[in-house]
Amino acid sequence: RVLDAEGNVLVPGIVDCHIHNREPGLEYKEDWESATRAAAAGGVTTVVGMPNTDPVIDRPEHLELKFERGEASAHVDFQSYAVVTSENLDLIPAIDETGALGFKIFLGSTVGDVPPPNDGEILEAMERIGKTGKRLGFHEENGEIIDHYTKRFTAEGRNEPIDHSHSRPVIAEREAVERMITFAEETDAKIHMFHVSSGSAAEAVARGKDRGVDVTAETTPHYLWFTEDVMREKGNVARVQPPIRDAEERATLWDVGIDQDTIDCIATDHAPHTPAEKKVDDPFGNTWDAISGFVGLETEVPAMLTFVDQGRLTLEEWVRRHSTRPAQVWGMYPQKGSLQVGTDADFTIVDPDREWTLADRTELHSKNCVTPFEGETFTGKAIATVVRGDIVAEDGAVVGESGYGTRVDID
Ligand code: NCD
Ligand code: ZN
Ligand code: ZN
Repeated sequence: RVLDAEGNVLVPGIVDCHIHNREPGLEYKEDWESATRAAAAGGVTTVVGMPNTDPVIDRPEHLELKFERGEASAHVDFQSYAVVTSENLDLIPAIDETGALGFKIFLGSTVGDVPPPNDGEILEAMERIGKTGKRLGFHEENGEIIDHYTKRFTAEGRNEPIDHSHSRPVIAEREAVERMITFAEETDAKIHMFHVSSGSAAEAVARGKDRGVDVTAETTPHYLWFTEDVMREKGNVARVQPPIRDAEERATLWDVGIDQDTIDCIATDHAPHTPAEKKVDDPFGNTWDAISGFVGLETEVPAMLTFVDQGRLTLEEWVRRHSTRPAQVWGMYPQKGSLQVGTDADFTIVDPDREWTLADRTELHSKNCVTPFEGETFTGKAIATVVRGDIVAEDGAVVGESGYGTRVDID
């Protein structure tokens, strides 16, 4: 097969190190097959699954199950994190041996039943993970601060989607980032901040890097694209944790995060939920029990290419953060994140000039496709996705086989 790439741009395969593929256990939302189908269609050649599944990925057997399911049905290559709780510190070496890409701690309450470890346990986890050579990433929000504001706002009878967002304020994120950086400074751990949403948190990461801490950071297209006004326009559909911030925080995220190069990685935080869970029929009602998260695998490349078209960053700066750096941060480079010339390369061909609108979310390939990007217009699209030399998607249609995707072996 010969691909006609004339007028288009060939880049190393896009690597998304933050997706919720929901398998095992939450297949009514998404599974490996549907998540990686969306990845292929969106131009993404490698994905890394989050551990807040059912069961949670907190021991070798659960990780093995997650890998087996992926081998059976994935369209693109994949990996998985394991979660650290107060209950599984002893299992860290065995989880490492089983081949987890890295570890994750959820500091605040999030989707799924994963209670955060206490500070002593976090320090212990950093020391133990340090011995494995792997990196520990954080859902970087302080749950006690969130609880405080949530109680206050509900007592005041507030019930707007924007209130729900403000109950997870920037201080909850900034404080968590600063504290984990201090812990890493003490333990010499390699740490990572997932889904940095605010300029204030990006500034905290920059201060940590200046102090010589091995802290890397990620942001998502939605924090760079939207401001909290999207909550007023689209309601709970746009609810996500951490929440989408105000214009000033977004401006600082661009300035410190992207222009000053504090943010290492772009990822989606692809987090599918059913339309009912997302309250699409009543997006401004019952704010306090609306669920957080939305899909992103098919809008991340278009959103970033739109920023390139707007001159917000260069094509090279985008590719570095969406392919090379994520692969390096998580130990997959140069297997992933590089254009090795040969027959087994991963690459994505993009049309940087294609203008299109996501008119209807059902055009997307996930099982559940609710996203605030519905209705948005992009300049740029992936037109071919190639994993280890085989075309897995062409012009938005998935042409590869389920089960072709394989676990990225990092040892
Ligand atoms: C994620 C989910 O649905 O699993 N939701 C979200 O709003 N980001 C959880 C998470 O990433 O913390
Ligand atoms: Zn999270
Ligand atoms: Zn997430």
